[in-house]
Amino acid sequence: MKAIAVFPKSRDVQLIDADLPSIASPTQVRLEMLDVGVCGTDREICAFQYGTPPEGSDHLIIGHESLGRVVEVGADVKSVSPGDLVVPMVRRPCPHAHCTACRCDRQDFCFTGDFQERGIGGAHGFMTEFVVEEERYLNPVPEALRDVAILVEPLTIAQKALIQIWQLQERLPWGCPHRPGKNHGHCRRALVLGAGPVGLLGAMALRARDFETIVYAREEAPNEKSRVVEAIGATYASSKDVPPDQIAARFGAIDVVYEAAGASRLAFDSMQALGANSIFVFTGVPGRKEPVAVDTDLLMRNLVLRNQVILGTVNAGRDAFEAAIRDVAEFGRRWPEALRSLVSGRHAPEEYRELLLGRPTGIKHVIRFARTD
Ligand code: BGC
Repeated sequence: MKAIAVFPKSRDVQLIDADLPSIASPTQVRLEMLDVGVCGTDREICAFQYGTPPEGSDHLIIGHESLGRVVEVGADVKSVSPGDLVVPMVRRPCPHAHCTACRCDRQDFCFTGDFQERGIGGAHGFMTEFVVEEERYLNPVPEALRDVAILVEPLTIAQKALIQIWQLQERLPWGCPHRPGKNHGHCRRALVLGAGPVGLLGAMALRARDFETIVYAREEAPNEKSRVVEAIGATYASSKDVPPDQIAARFGAIDVVYEAAGASRLAFDSMQALGANSIFVFTGVPGRKEPVAVDTDLLMRNLVLRNQVILGTVNAGRDAFEAAIRDVAEFGRRWPEALRSLVSGRHAPEEYRELLLGRPTGIKHVIRFARTD
């Protein structure tokens, strides 16, 4: 079967002919992969900045954003049947008894770092035609979401952030007064850094909760991303028009920053926009570049005097996957065109070079593997 793999030793990316996987235990499920998303992490793996093959293998089959259809189930599988759509989770637990996170299915909070991530580190991923997976890592998806469910995994990042934002902000009187027809973020202002898929999906999640939402990115409007931002009732601002130190003056103090740009300079500069009792959530993984100067006195004064929180978050648990599946359906009801426009193109596996090594274009590109769908 076709699979897209990196060979770190020879620094090569190839479309390979991999062995068809088969079910080896009664709790396993065989999936035909329908859509596999291409993201920044995949591009970094293909540039050999990130990613590790499984032990004993000279290559790693990449791909972690995926949608599959169940084609075969082991004898003990109960929650899914052949024909069902599923989105697999990415991370697998570490083996250590003392890792309380992994021992209670919260490997997204693994203490040891010895976890595996399918398509990223230590385990083959989903950019291939068939995959075998344990039932417990699969999330069933309604058939109606067939065309957009590839957005579930990148949306889990925002869902895990939102779950934690509510938990952390519960320590203070942060909740909005009840307003009929309005969701619980209606009295808060959010700033999203970056207008890539993670940023735009995060903006949709914030808008769905009625946060006033500003998406802040480099490119000047109008562009395809600013059009999505406007369609969901958010505001697009370019850093070329509004420098980071002007954000609060232009839009008012920010309650939540959802960082989805991976640019540390921009992120730290925009911290000045944070108001009292605010929270800043980092999701990006920047490449290591030259150190940059940060006004640490100002930062620390504000953190203390304004009760601010800075949070880093990675990966996602089942709760975030389930919330993402519900939200993708909700986005489809509210903004069908904008949601569909996030998928810029569906491509044959043979186009992998342009997609993974070429200049990034559009929003979310998807590789179609399905033979039957
Ligand atoms: C994936 C996460 C993963 C992270 C770090 C992201 O692209 O969506 O599942 O934990 O990379 O490897």
